[in-house]
Order: sequence, then C-alpha cells, then structure tokens
Amino acid sequence: MNVFGCLILIIILISKTSIATDVCSPGGCVCGISHRVINCDSKGWENLSSLEFPSQVNTLTLVANKLQFDRVEDIEKINNLTNLMDFSLNQNPLGKIPSFHINNLQSLSLIDTSLTSAEFPPSYNNCPLKAITLNDNKLRSINENDFAVLENSKLHRLHLDTASISKIDQNAFSVLKHLDSLSLKQNQLKSAEFLANLPRLSSIKLDGNQFTSLPPQLSIQKTMRIASLTSNSITNIDESSPLHTWLMKNWTSNRIYLANNPIDCCSSLWFIRFLQKTPEFVADRSLLKCAAPTSLAGQFLLDLNPDRLNCGDEPPKHSWWTIGRILGILGGIIGIVISFIIICIAYRYIRYRPSQSGYTEIDDPYVNVENTLPGGPVFPNLHDDEVDDRLSTYTYPDGTRSYAQTHSTADGVYAVDPSQTGDSVVERTALLSRPH
Ligand SMILES: *[C@@H]1O[C@H](CO)[C@@H](O)[C@H](O)[C@H]1NC(C)=O
Ligand SMILES: *[C@@H]1O[C@H](CO)[C@@H](O)[C@H](O)[C@H]1NC(C)=O
Ligand SMILES: *[C@@H]1O[C@H](CO)[C@@H](O)[C@H](O)[C@H]1NC(C)=O
Repeated sequence: MNVFGCLILIIILISKTSIATDVCSPGGCVCGISHRVINCDSKGWENLSSLEFPSQVNTLTLVANKLQFDRVEDIEKINNLTNLMDFSLNQNPLGKIPSFHINNLQSLSLIDTSLTSAEFPPSYNNCPLKAITLNDNKLRSINENDFAVLENSKLHRLHLDTASISKIDQNAFSVLKHLDSLSLKQNQLKSAEFLANLPRLSSIKLDGNQFTSLPPQLSIQKTMRIASLTSNSITNIDESSPLHTWLMKNWTSNRIYLANNPIDCCSSLWFIRFLQKTPEFVADRSLLKCAAPTSLAGQFLLDLNPDRLNCGDEPPKHSWWTIGRILGILGGIIGIVISFIIICIAYRYIRYRPSQSGYTEIDDPYVNVENTLPGGPVFPNLHDDEVDDRLSTYTYPDGTRSYAQTHSTADGVYAVDPSQTGDSVVERTALLSRPH
C-alpha cells in the first residue's frame, strides 16, 4: 500500500470521529487557511467515496481527476456543500453535465470534460448561477432548450469557446435574460441569429469563426459595447454593415475588434473612410490590413487614401456598382434583341429575294414565267400537237401533279430535271402557263 492509500485510510479513520478532518488533512488538497478555498487537482480520483470536504468551502476545484459523477453518493456529497459558490471540474471525463443541486452555486466550470451536449438537467432549476464555462468540449450544436432550466438564474456570463459549435438555435439563449457576456470563440459559426434575442448583451466574442461579413444583428442593441470578430473570413465591410448603424445612431461607446480578417480593400472603401473619420469604433484599427486586391495586400487600412486607390475595374462605391451593373445588364439585353431583329430581317431578305434558282411566290398561276424569272431556265415549249410524255414526279395536296417535262425532238426524248430548275412549283407553273 502506497503513501497515498495510507493517507486515504487515515482520512477515513479520522473522518469517522471528526467531520472537520478531511481532504485538507496533511498531504491532501491545497486548502486556504479558513478552508473556504480548496484545490484538489490532479489527485487521480475516480469517485468521492471515503472523502470528506469541509462544509464551509465556497471555492472548490477538482481539476484533472477521473471523476464522472455517475454515482448518486458523489453527487450528494457535493450537494451537501451548501456554501459552495465557485466549482470547477475541468479536465474530468464527465460526458454530460452532472445533475448537481447546489443551492448557492454561482460559477460552474466544465472545461474539457468530454461533454457532447450543453443541456442542463432539471436539478439546476432555481440555481443562482451567474457564470458558466463549457469551453473545449464537442458540443456541435446549441439547442433551443439546453439552458431552459436556467430561466430563473441570473446568468451574466456564458463561455462556449472551442466547442466545435456550428449551429445555434436562434432562441437558445433567449431565456437568459440577464446574459451580458457571451463568448463563442474558435467555433464554426457563420451566422448569429441568436444575437437578436439577447436584449442585455454587451459583449459578444466571435473570434476564430467562419463569418464572411459582420452579423447584421450587431445593429439591433444599443447595449452592445464590445463585439469581437478577429480571425474570421470577413472580406467586405460597406455601408450595409452594422457599423453604418452605429455611426447613424451615434453609439459612440461601442467597440469592435476585426484584426486578422481577409479584407478586400477595394470593396471596403466605405469602411476605410469610416475608419479614418470615426476611428474610435474599431479598437484594433491599427492592425487591420488589406488581403485583396493583390496590389494592396499587406497594406494597413489606416495608411490608404480611399480616393486614390488603384482599384482597376472595381468601382469605388457600392451603390454606383449596383446601378452600373443594372445598366450593363439592360444594355446587354437590348443589344441581344436588336441583333436578333437584324438577323431576322437579313434572313427574310435573303430567303425571299427573287433568285436565279426561282425561289419566288407565284399567286397567279397564269403569270408569265419568262417575265417572273428573268434569266431563269428556259423551259421547252410544249405544243398541243406534241406527244405529252411528261413524267409524273410529285402529287400536290390539291390533287394536281407536277411533272418533269420531257420533250421529244429529233434528237430524242429528254427530261427537264427538277433538281436543275430547283423547284417543281416553277415547273408546275411553267406547265400551267403554257399557251393554249
Ligand atoms: C473509487 O475510486 C477508487 C480510486 O480512486 C477506487 O479504488 C474505488 O474502487 C472506487 N469506488 C467505487 C465505488 O467506484
Ligand atoms: C449529506 O448531508 C446529510 C445531512 O445533512 C447526510 O445525512 C448525508 O449522509 C450527506 N450525504 C453525503 C453523501 O455526504
Ligand atoms: C453623439 O454622441 C456624443 C456623445 O456620446 C455627443 O457629444 C454628440 O453630440 C452626438 N452626436 C450626435 C450627432 O448626436
């Protein structure tokens, strides 16, 4: 049996005779003089059986043990600590939030405790929690009812950093009416609808997420004192951003942090002017650099003259750009329509122009072919007395037929090839127009 085992044994023996001798006995936890602050970190504990805590403890840390709180006795042992206000179980393999019912608990820290859900069990109903930290867990999403039992709490501060969160229900925090500081650093968030339901929020940390623009909800509350969005993917900041609202509403005590975003300076000219005219809004303005266009990459925004930037085809102002684009599209459509009309006219002209091959419409069957088709093929003259040995070539819907005409001469019989005259209609007409 090792020294530690002996110690436990001694503690058990002593605790049978006196409640005061406990984890703070020599060789045990690090305890404050009055045993109000106790640190029992890295003890290798798997459970709390055979351990006694002084009832006056108000700050207890059990960091880096192997506690799971899967036994009711362990939960009860903590629940019995009626003076406990500040409790840390960081780096224990909890798996889920333990069902503590600690009457005076104000601060709970469950960092790196293998949580897969932020759902608080019903035992926390009426718990006077003011601060919760659930960083470094694999929460993935925050659901609408995760904090529902904390409705009567006075929760001011909630930290959910590095928690693999990609989805937050827009009402997830709405029961937390006193929440004024919310930290969601290093997650995978792209939007922040939940901000609309936090009327008292004054600090939001969204650093290291996946925002591509400033969340519009930042313009809802006047109480928003600090918004931190460093290390996101924000490229454009223009007059549609909440900063414009801050400026218009004169919320001059608001501060935003934006360092380490890939700002496109040519599409953020409004922002560059904003920074230079009203620098107070952007607390880390001296750190902001352009990421695009390449000609400006690495340049500090504060060093740029927005009226003299070489932005090439990039128009200087958003509104101008929009109007320009609309005009461009309209011009393109009109151009296409005009081209189409011209092509149609040209096609009609070519298609119906009287031509050598005899493509012409003849309404009068007795029209003089020789006049209609100047230079056209000369048809053999059939005379009444000549043998009509025409070859039938095609039957028309009206029952008439066209013929490839043949003509008997001294040289023999020859046929007029319709493919040479090009159109059997002409031949038919030629046939009909024969003088009687
Ligand atoms: C409590 O934990 C100790 C080690 O810390 C272990 O030896 C013991 O079996 C555990 N007791 C229960 C009931 O799990
Ligand atoms: C909690 O305290 C009650 C008395 O207040 C006691 O009977 C009970 O055994 C304690 N539970 C634990 C697990 O220490
Ligand atoms: C904006 O607020 C400041 C004080 O915060 C005040 O001095 C200034 O006159 C206000 N400007 C406008 C336009 O309301």
